[in-house]
Amino acid sequence: MARAHLTEDQPSEEAIAGFRAGMRPFWHPVLAGADLSDKPVAVRLLGQRLVLARMGATVQVFPDTCSHFQAQLSLGKVVTVDGKPALQCPYHGWAFGEGGRCARIPQLPEGRKIPAAADLTAYRAREAYGLIWVCLAEQATYDLPPFPEHDDPAFRKIRLNEAEEMRTSATRMIMGTLDDTHFPWVHEGILGSQDHPKPPEHEVWREGSQLVLSYETEQPPGLMTGGGAGAAPVKLRYTDYVGMPNVIRLVKDSPGGRYVIWLATCPVDWNRTRNFWIFARDYDTAPERDATYTEMAAHVRQQDKPIIESQRPWLLPPFWSKVELPIRPGDLPLIQYQKWLEKLGIVTAI
Ligand code: FES
Ligand SMILES: [Fe+2]
Repeated sequence: MARAHLTEDQPSEEAIAGFRAGMRPFWHPVLAGADLSDKPVAVRLLGQRLVLARMGATVQVFPDTCSHFQAQLSLGKVVTVDGKPALQCPYHGWAFGEGGRCARIPQLPEGRKIPAAADLTAYRAREAYGLIWVCLAEQATYDLPPFPEHDDPAFRKIRLNEAEEMRTSATRMIMGTLDDTHFPWVHEGILGSQDHPKPPEHEVWREGSQLVLSYETEQPPGLMTGGGAGAAPVKLRYTDYVGMPNVIRLVKDSPGGRYVIWLATCPVDWNRTRNFWIFARDYDTAPERDATYTEMAAHVRQQDKPIIESQRPWLLPPFWSKVELPIRPGDLPLIQYQKWLEKLGIVTAI
């Protein structure tokens, strides 16, 4: 019985397999670019152990398992073989160059060719927005969504690369960031007030690979509403962009300026998520103000964390299961996000 999974901790095998397979053909952030120097680094993506290594101008991504006797390659180091960089296994010194090609087997008798089976699978990697992104499929379904404020010098930016993983799925994390009807309940006094719990009038549409949502609302004055003091609520417009399925950019425009919350989530696995945040503002831009803004962002994060981690099933259920009871029109953006996930084959079963 599918519904039994509502009370069990573990989703069905089918739901987990669907999530892992459905999420493969997308770019996922796995590490801050600044955290990858000349040493290889182990990461996990969709349940798979991977090793990242800088080789010349490129970032190479392989399974973190040597083709010889399966030692962990991230315990090795980058060396030079025939004038080219290669990742050397710590166990018997096999070395793997760009594209995963096995470039050296020290134990191979003279004149014998390196067997093709020694080569590793190389996954696609790129650097953007200060992060390293990996795609486990040959082809990514969508390109990375735009982030105009990232390269705009008018914006002061703060990064928050969470060291601690969230105990949730990446899709629940994105949905929790897209959800605005929780503001008065979880962020009372900061993002809303329980005196006005009525949801705003959402407009929702698709733009290429992005789900876009726009609405007007009022929020208490503060750091994220133009930095204003005083007591009067601030009128502002939210425009939210979800880069399907794992990136979200919330743009808050108020008379005081623009505040942007950008999140890229890494689906470490179906129940483990690592969050990479960037907060940008074009007001109150003095660098010494960053600590105050970081503190506020971290505070809001701590308010959301226990709620999002408490949600079951771990993975978003499909609509046909009728597990959820979304209320229109307030929950319309969430419905649209989930429908798109189903279409992409990421949500398949309970
Ligand atoms: S296990 Fe890697 S070289 Fe032997
Ligand atoms: Fe929240």
